[in-house]
Parts: sequence; structure tokens; C-alpha cells
Amino acid sequence: MLRRRKITLSVAGGAAALLLIGGGVAWAVSAMQPAQPVESTQATSPMPSAEVKPTTEPPKNEAPKYDLDSPSSITVVVNKQRPINPIDWAPDDLVLPAGVPNVWDHPIRAEAATALEAMYAASVDAGVPFTVTSGYRDYALQKEIYDGLVEQGGVAFADKDTARPGFSEHQTGLTVDLFGEEGCSLDACFGETATGIWLRDNSYRFGYILRYHDGEQATVGYTYEPWHFRYVGVDVATAMHDQGVLNLEDFFGLPPAPTT
Ligand code: DAL
Ligand code: ZN
Repeated sequence: MLRRRKITLSVAGGAAALLLIGGGVAWAVSAMQPAQPVESTQATSPMPSAEVKPTTEPPKNEAPKYDLDSPSSITVVVNKQRPINPIDWAPDDLVLPAGVPNVWDHPIRAEAATALEAMYAASVDAGVPFTVTSGYRDYALQKEIYDGLVEQGGVAFADKDTARPGFSEHQTGLTVDLFGEEGCSLDACFGETATGIWLRDNSYRFGYILRYHDGEQATVGYTYEPWHFRYVGVDVATAMHDQGVLNLEDFFGLPPAPTT
């Protein structure tokens, strides 16, 4: 069993990196439940006057706010139009999820790790245990992967399923690539395995979403990646599930990001 520990940085190199391929302003206004607002939702009050009675009631028509921009926000939206800012940002709370099989011992952020541990336990109970094949990837590792693919097949080939450095959700520390006992690691066929189906249908309960659905490339910028799960918190993931919204761009009212 893996022991949970604090991680500063984990960068696989050379050939190993190439095996990790795969699985990208506005304060969003949403009628959905707030996830974890990081800014005050307090309304700006008018100047007090004798006519205005003080009230302790919450402000009316005040939409919940989500921080979509800060790299440390669990609702940060990263896509081909929205690089991580600063572009080489790194999380400071990376840990190794405890007890979760993890090919390269990739850490992820602490909150995402706790959720992943719970999701793993549930997947075991359901008879579809998963393994992590990629977690946090820093700017340098993403560059190594992306450049290797460009060398192999050109820019269009690389761009279809791999983010450019600074544009990957893996760099947020909130994302994992998963596979199961049926194989199909980093392959579209994973979506048809029992593990892939269970994850697609149940990950929201743990705050994870399948980020790159089949047929959504015009919005999310990437081809189908049934293995790539992004942590956004249980409230947002559940609201997306319940409302049948597939993409963060649609949920938060952001423009599609087909290209960089
Ligand atoms: N495969 C996803 C898009 C990434 O490289 O982050
Ligand atoms: Zn991924």
C-alpha cells in the first residue's frame, strides 16, 4: 500500500514521458449550486442613507461566483484559449493518493487526492478498480510530451489529443488519466470497458468529470478521451451531471476553444 506523502515535484523523463500521452474571462454566472466560491459573494451595497433600512438578509439576485482563472482554484478552466497563468505555475499541495495504484507515482493536489481515494474504494466495491497512469505533469514534462509528438507526426497530430505546455489540465494537479483491468489505457476503447463506463457514470459523485467527451472537439479542443478525469468538486460535478451538461465551457458560459 502506498503511503500518502507530500510531494514537491515529480517529473518523469525521456522515454517514460512518452508513455504518458493523452489525456485544456469571466466570472461565470450560473443558476447551479456554488462549488467553492473563492471570492466574496457579498453585494456592493448602495451608500447608506436615512431612507435605507439596514438589513441582514442576503443580497437578492446575487449569482454564485466561481474562480475560473486562478491556477489554484478547483474550478479553474484551462483549455486551448485559456492557458494556466502564470504559464509555468505549479501547485504547492501535491500528494500521492494513498492506496491507489499509480504507474508512475504521479501526485495530484491534496483535495483531488482525497476524492480519488474515495472513488478508488468505490470502484473496488463495484468490481472495476482503476489505475492512475498520469496525474500531475509540470510544464517541462508537458513540453517534452508535446514536442515528442510534434516530432513524430507534426503539429496537427500533436494538437488533436495533447495540450501544449502551459495549456494542460494536468499542470493544475487536478487531473488524472485512468485505466482498468480490461486494458485500453489511453485508448478510445476504454470508454466501452466496464471500468470506463463506471467512471463515466459515477465520477461526479466524487467531484470528477469526464472532460473530453466523444463529439465535443469543437468546444473542448480535443478528441474523445474517456480516460481523462478532471476534479472540479462535488457541487459542480453533480450540477453538470444532473443538468446533462458535458463541458466546463458550456457550464460556465465560456466560448468554445477548438484551437489555440
Ligand atoms: N490530453 C490532454 C488534452 C492533455 O494533454 O492535457
Ligand atoms: Zn489526461
